[in-house]
This record gives sequence, structure tokens and C-alpha cells, in this order.
Amino acid sequence: MSQRIEAEVFAGRRARLLAQLPAGSALLLSSAQLQTRNHDVEYPFRQDSNFYYLTGFDEPDALLLLLPGREGGEYVLFCQDRDPEMEIWHGYRTGPEGCRSRYGADDAWPIDQVDEQMPLLLDGRSRLYYRLGHDQDLDNRVHDWLNAMRLQARQGIRPPSELVLVDPQLNEMRLFKAPEEQAVMRKAGELSAEAHVKAMQACRPGVFEYQLEAVISHHFAMHGCRQSAYPSIVGGGANGCVLHYTNNDQPLNDGDLVLIDAGIELDYYAADITRTFPVNGRFSDEQKALYELVLKAQQACIELCRPGVLWDRVHERSVEVLTDGLIELGILTGERDELIDSGAYRDFYMHRIGHWLGLDVHDVGDYKVDGEWRPLQPGMVMTVEPGLYIAPDNTRVDARWRGIGIRIEDNVLITDDGCELLTDGVPKTVAEIEALMAQAQQ
Ligand code: GLY
Ligand code: MN
Ligand code: MN
Repeated sequence: MSQRIEAEVFAGRRARLLAQLPAGSALLLSSAQLQTRNHDVEYPFRQDSNFYYLTGFDEPDALLLLLPGREGGEYVLFCQDRDPEMEIWHGYRTGPEGCRSRYGADDAWPIDQVDEQMPLLLDGRSRLYYRLGHDQDLDNRVHDWLNAMRLQARQGIRPPSELVLVDPQLNEMRLFKAPEEQAVMRKAGELSAEAHVKAMQACRPGVFEYQLEAVISHHFAMHGCRQSAYPSIVGGGANGCVLHYTNNDQPLNDGDLVLIDAGIELDYYAADITRTFPVNGRFSDEQKALYELVLKAQQACIELCRPGVLWDRVHERSVEVLTDGLIELGILTGERDELIDSGAYRDFYMHRIGHWLGLDVHDVGDYKVDGEWRPLQPGMVMTVEPGLYIAPDNTRVDARWRGIGIRIEDNVLITDDGCELLTDGVPKTVAEIEALMAQAQQ
């Protein structure tokens, strides 16, 4: 995979994290491992996001140790060793020498030497930071290393006495996107928007959901990227009401809407766009009324995205606009404030306004700090994705609305004085969508 983020950026991240670690501590992170699909076939490998964030190294079976103040160097990697036989079957391995020369490690060893080296490296380090409780295999290995060290107490070996979760420091760093990350995410937004335009242009009654998925993946692949950030959702008609629908195996019907939620993973960074549009290129009156309500909610929320606004305020705004609109359309009846307090809207809007976006599609970072909703700050990237989903079997709603599912999702970067929309390359007003589709169908 190409590497747009330069080696010195990874070095800068390690230096910032090292500066937060107390002297005499150690930090341990594990790479992702290959997962078996069946027999000797594996799923495509994807590096662990934290491991990638700090190393840029994208092989399995690797460990990272940061050892503040270590004389021989603070950055240590364990990796798969070079192996001509294995490399014939599975491809090139960087090996310890490559980890030093290409990835800047101060020291690197083959992973099969880890049991010998780890007690020596951890000796005298009183606190060990790692992702305690996330990975059973790593928990077991840490347990074994600590026990091996305890058995060597008479030789003067001192194991860490404190195990501490590493997530708070790392999550906070990842939440704020530096300029080079913003640049990758801007490009990811652009390419994903183009893919959605292609899907709108290719859509016709009778096309299968997975065929629109293929239009999207094809665009990603033709622009240097094989991966999506998550399995694409392409749901025609009532399938659009299934929030994480991924079967994508039905034909698209004349008169229905289709909801597509898809984004590229570009150099490990995710985009996350949803558009909903008519299969035949023209919205019905009911589809248009609900669509324009979701769009109004989204626009009101995007207007709020600026430094200082509380994360939850953006969600509340979506609830207010959607509840008002549902009352106007006669889908909800009653007093606005009571309907909001009782959560009546949740029958139709059951998720929150969005999430942080970055190396993970649902990226790391706290939404509350010290029990209070967090204010937005420059450098954060988030999605804004209100939706309305009228279940096909909701008999409390007039039949003409049933089976309509709509979500509109964009990605915004919080800037010093507002926000930058990273995904504005794909139309979203009714007029723009109908014009684009009419042109494609000529
Ligand atoms: N694509 C998953 C989400 O929108 O959260
Ligand atoms: Mn999405
Ligand atoms: Mn999302």
C-alpha cells in the first residue's frame, strides 16, 4: 500500500507519545494478525490502526516497544524474520534490518526471539502501558513474560509492577488530525464522492444492489485503493431501513429509493458517505418530503459544526429539526417538547448524529470529558448523518410513508472558525440528484 504519510510523521507521533510517558515506563503494542477464512486461506490483512499510526509498518506478527530514556534507543520493533522459502509463497518481508533502515527502529529483532528479549527489555521498567484486555493472545503473552521475569528475581530482574491502559493518550492524539492527515482525508472524501456520483449514474430499475457496490469498489480500485473503509451498504426500498444492511443481493425496483453508505480507505484513512436517491431518477412526493426533511436537519447540523459547540448539541439539533418536520408531515402527533422528551422520534431516527472519523470509520476519541459533552475543536473530523427510517410494518404510520429509509451523511473537518465539508463532491438536493440522473439516463 502506498504511503502518503512520510516516515518523519510517524517519528513525530512516537516522539509526542514518548514525551507523555513517565521515565522508567514501557509501552507495548501489537500488530494485527492474519485471520483464517477457511483451511489455509486468509482474509486480506489490515494493520491495527494504533500500530500503523505509530510505525507505518504494515506486516502481521509484529510488536512495538517504546522505552523512554533507553540508552540503545527508545523505539524497538519485533517483526517476521526474512525467510526465502516463505517469501516465495507469501511475498516480501521487511525483516529486522529493514525495520531499522526503512522504518527508523533503533533496534529490531525477529519475532521468534521475543521471549528471550522481552524480559531484558522490560527489566527495571516499573510501569507497562499496553492495550490491556483487548487481545487475549497478547494478555497471555504479557502474563508469560511477567512470570518469566519473576522467576529471575534472584538474578536481579525486576518486572513491571503496574499495568496501565495505553488508550487514553493514543486516542486523544488520534482524535486531532494533523495537516498531513487532513490532506489524506480530503482526498478520501473526494474519491468517495466521485464513486457515489458514478453509482447514481449507473442506477436503473433491475440493477442489483451488489452491482452498485461494484461500481463504487471499481472507482476506488481505479484510483489506487483496493479497500473500502467498511462493507458498503446498498439497500433498495425497505432495505434502506436496515441500518447496517450488507447483504446487498436484491434487485432495485422502479419507484423505490436506494440508500448507499460507502467510503474508501485511503492510506488507512476512512471516508464515510451516505446518499439516498430514487432508483428511477425521480423522487415521489412522499420520498421528496422525507428526503428534504433529512437534508434540512443535516444542513442545520453542519451549520453548527464549529469550535466550542458541544458534540451533543449537534445531535440535539437533528432531533429538533426532524421532530418538527415529522409533526408537520403528520407522522408524529403531539407537543413538540413532549415528543422530544419522550424520544418519540426514535421510532424513525434511532441512531446518533455521527461519530469521529479517522483511521477507523468509527474512530477513537472520547465524546465526554470529565462527564461533560466535549466541545468541538479544530482538527477533529466527524460525520454528520441524520436519517429517517419508516419501517415497512409500522402500522401506526400512514401506509404511503412505510418502507422509506433515508440517510444523508457527510464528513466535516472542524477548522479555526467553522468547518470544511470533505465530501461535497456528490450532489444532495433533490434538483441536483434528479438532474444528474436524468443526464445519465439519456
Ligand atoms: N458506515 C457506518 C456509519 O455510517 O456509521
Ligand atoms: Mn456511513
Ligand atoms: Mn458514519
